[in-house]
Amino acid sequence: MTASAKFTFPEKFLWGTATSAHQVEGENNNNNWSLWEAQPGRIRNGDVSGKACDWWKGRRWQEDFLRAADTGQNTHRMSIEWSRIQPKENLWDESAIDYYREMIRGMISRGLRPLITLHHFTDPIWFYEMGGWQNEKAPEYFRRFAEKIIPAFKPLVKDWITINEPNVYILCGFISGHFPPGNINNFSAANIVLRNMIKAHAAVYHLIHEQQPEASVGIAIHFRDLFPKMNSPFDRWMTRLAHHLFNNSFTDTISSGKFHYGPYFIHIPQAKNTQDFLGLNFYSGNQVRFTLNRNNFLSYPEGASLSDTGFIANEPESFSRALKWAAGYGKSIIITENGTESDEDTFRRDYLAAHIHRLWRAWSNGIPVKGYYHWSLVDNFEWERGWSQRFGLWRLDVETQIRTKRLSADFYEQICRKNALDSEDMATFAPRIYRQIFPV
Ligand code: BGC
Repeated sequence: MTASAKFTFPEKFLWGTATSAHQVEGENNNNNWSLWEAQPGRIRNGDVSGKACDWWKGRRWQEDFLRAADTGQNTHRMSIEWSRIQPKENLWDESAIDYYREMIRGMISRGLRPLITLHHFTDPIWFYEMGGWQNEKAPEYFRRFAEKIIPAFKPLVKDWITINEPNVYILCGFISGHFPPGNINNFSAANIVLRNMIKAHAAVYHLIHEQQPEASVGIAIHFRDLFPKMNSPFDRWMTRLAHHLFNNSFTDTISSGKFHYGPYFIHIPQAKNTQDFLGLNFYSGNQVRFTLNRNNFLSYPEGASLSDTGFIANEPESFSRALKWAAGYGKSIIITENGTESDEDTFRRDYLAAHIHRLWRAWSNGIPVKGYYHWSLVDNFEWERGWSQRFGLWRLDVETQIRTKRLSADFYEQICRKNALDSEDMATFAPRIYRQIFPV
């Protein structure tokens, strides 16, 4: 019998899963995504979020939080749906606040520390119809929403994310057109939205600290590791540009207070040093090639190991680079999302093992990582890709709402309980890549 080996994480490490309101709650009929889903051709296979994971009306958050807690997780990240709290500009729904309070209490009573996101891609219809984030008053509207939320939840919540992936919201909404409002290559709108989101983040960061000095506040940024497809000056230039626009523009501004976005430059002094931790969402790395075709400039390297629909390549080396990049901001780091679609689940187990290993390596080299949130707990509505991609540790039958545990959930349970990646678990759950992680 061979001896076992372990990569052990620091004490009190946060292990959890992440979700977002629109993707799990169901029956969200008052936000811009409900309008988007109703437009033919917007969502793959004509899917709709529908009941989603039935958290809202069916109260299935109860059983799902139990699943998380019973499998060794100690935290959960979820978001609050703005359109439920403020259904109209001048209307606040106290019963929605009460229901979220119940949910957060339910989380805590099961031993899960809450991490709450205030904006995860969706906007109330009234806000969207006023121009959404292009409206100069958007930061003020978002601050008002936060003014309602923070006092209501601060006795229960200490960890906050203001905005999830502003860079994806902007890329998909204003450059690629996959998200509402579906603009294509509208860089001037992208610039305005980005600035307004930075201002909104800064305003809410300060608001939270005024009301709750001990709070810990950040954003969740989607980092893509980008590298030139060929070693040509064009591909290298395109890579640098994409890296600057996508990865750096938001995080640089909330660190320095100086906003650069291509040719645009302004000072936003109130944004300087407005993150207590850096929330890193990491999925993959891409090669970049110089072309004006927005659908064709990113690809995965030849021979990359790909998920079911080819959406994600397992690129752990890119995760190491992401962690190094994140460390450059000098804050503690929380992996606020990492995961992959994989219905049959073998790919997910390999992906999970490889990424947890890289996370440990980063920590053991002095990068201050504090937690890891797997995306996601249960299969959920994947935006413009609908139900065609399955990111859950639990499989969901959308019709019957029956959840089935995948082996990845068992594997992740071992990691959470042992606070370690263990060679025996690797042999059981990810034998295909065992030797990469535990070489002879
Ligand atoms: C988003 C999630 C999404 C995940 C997988 C992230 O960009 O924050 O909402 O489900 O990617 O597609």
